Amino acid sequence: MVTIQETKKYQAYYTKSTPIVDYMVNKLELKESDRILEPCGGDGVFVDSILALNESANIDVYELNDLAFQILLNKFSPFGNVTIRNCDTLLDNDLIFNSGFGGAYDKIIANPPYGAWQDFEKRSVLKKLYNDLYAKETYSLFLYRCIELLRDGGILSFIIPDTFLNLHMHKGIRRNILTKTRILELVLFPSSFFPGVNFGYANLSIITLQKDDRPQVCLTNEFPVFTKFSDVSQLANIENQNVHKFSFVQSEVLANSDHAFFIAEDSTISDTLSKAPTKLGDIASCVTGFYSGDDKTFLQVRSLELKNGKNYTLVNPESICDNITEHTNILDGIDGLRHFIPIVKGGNTRYLKPESWFMNWSKEAVSHYKNDKKARFQNPKFYFKFGIGVPMISSSSITASLIENKLFDQSIVGVFPSDPNMMQYLLGFLNSPTCNKLIRTINPSANNPANYIKKIPFIHPDEKSLKRVTDLVGEIINSIKLNKNYDEEVEREIHTMFQTIYGF
Ligand SMILES: C[S@@+](CC[C@H](N)C(=O)[O-])C[C@H]1O[C@@H](n2cnc3c(N)ncnc32)[C@H](O)[C@@H]1O
Repeated sequence: MVTIQETKKYQAYYTKSTPIVDYMVNKLELKESDRILEPCGGDGVFVDSILALNESANIDVYELNDLAFQILLNKFSPFGNVTIRNCDTLLDNDLIFNSGFGGAYDKIIANPPYGAWQDFEKRSVLKKLYNDLYAKETYSLFLYRCIELLRDGGILSFIIPDTFLNLHMHKGIRRNILTKTRILELVLFPSSFFPGVNFGYANLSIITLQKDDRPQVCLTNEFPVFTKFSDVSQLANIENQNVHKFSFVQSEVLANSDHAFFIAEDSTISDTLSKAPTKLGDIASCVTGFYSGDDKTFLQVRSLELKNGKNYTLVNPESICDNITEHTNILDGIDGLRHFIPIVKGGNTRYLKPESWFMNWSKEAVSHYKNDKKARFQNPKFYFKFGIGVPMISSSSITASLIENKLFDQSIVGVFPSDPNMMQYLLGFLNSPTCNKLIRTINPSANNPANYIKKIPFIHPDEKSLKRVTDLVGEIINSIKLNKNYDEEVEREIHTMFQTIYGF
């Protein structure tokens, strides 16, 4: 048995799902003569399944963990056609050699480790070997290595998190896939379909692709994507299941910014993302905010009843700065007793947040922030400006609220339109379901870092729409200021307007 510690270290989560294994093996279109690679053997589920179809299949199995290697060795000792190697697939010299000479395998099947821990020495070697890739996330390194190891026409099937489709750090592997292979099929399903573990990843994918040494042919390839599975058994006979099917052409994905796959339920959303001439980043600065380096010491709270409030000191109202604009050199800090300033933090409140948190902004404190290693005195030219704050993590859908000349912390992306007349319009848009569909297609996780927010397509409104949205958002803000709530009818009208402007 592999121990729990080793399971974590080697990311040894075995594919104990017959529908998944059957689907992947089936996708390989195995032939008698195939030379097959299983680059991360585990306890050999894929090997078992291949041997059940053809006992004399020629398979090389790699496994780094000594214990798992021994188990594999015993299990497959009766099969002279199965070679087991106790090696690191990412660093093995034979594999590196074969990668450089047009590959050596006809078929490869894998469930690679997703975030396996690498010691620093290994990480720096990996960085050199795979310099275009993100070395911390091992699955993309396995995918890259295995694409190199395929012969021209060879097929590979991998089960991996779906994050390689969108995240910036996986741009390199996307370019590789799109220009060196033809994607045969991509399926996306919840990680709960994978028995026994919770990866902390929202979704898993199985990508099946065929190596093709002709880049132009790769680029014209159209491939199907299947989503909206309700049960893992639907992987069998997929075309006849009640699941969603989309088609994409590789050249179009390559042309998307950062070669991201924009897989949305509605093709109007993918089209808007691919073709938008203007993005939010073109009309507004989108920047991350401030961190003191030690909030327990420097941050204070208006009420201990607030979420997490008990962990902080209660602010003395006499120490709150009542007029920030009177301090001309505010970025150097404030002299005197009234040196606590309001700061906008995360939390999914729409349109306007109450003033709840205050940062020590004395001259000494500010000097500390500028010099402390842990502090982030980043993008200061946007501090105390009028803008919009979007929390980096959204619970269900993206939210936005005004930053009214306040400081904003690093859990917020500050959006500062270059044309101030766009402020209310943008605030309405960033709170709309239309915007949420766009950001979740750009990045399906619940995260909204600045680099993704910048990519949201922006459609310039005509004057009438601009005025109407501006008035309605103004109405909402005034109502929150007066009554702490707003009329949802008004909000619905704004949502409908964006639905009309964007078409979804
Ligand atoms: C996610 S498990 C999958 C095992 C098996 N293929 C399956 O699907 O059940 C990944 C396996 O890869 C092995 N492994 C981790 N890093 C490796 C490396 N660098 N080279 C070879 N094997 C590795 C782990 O020990 C583990 O057994």
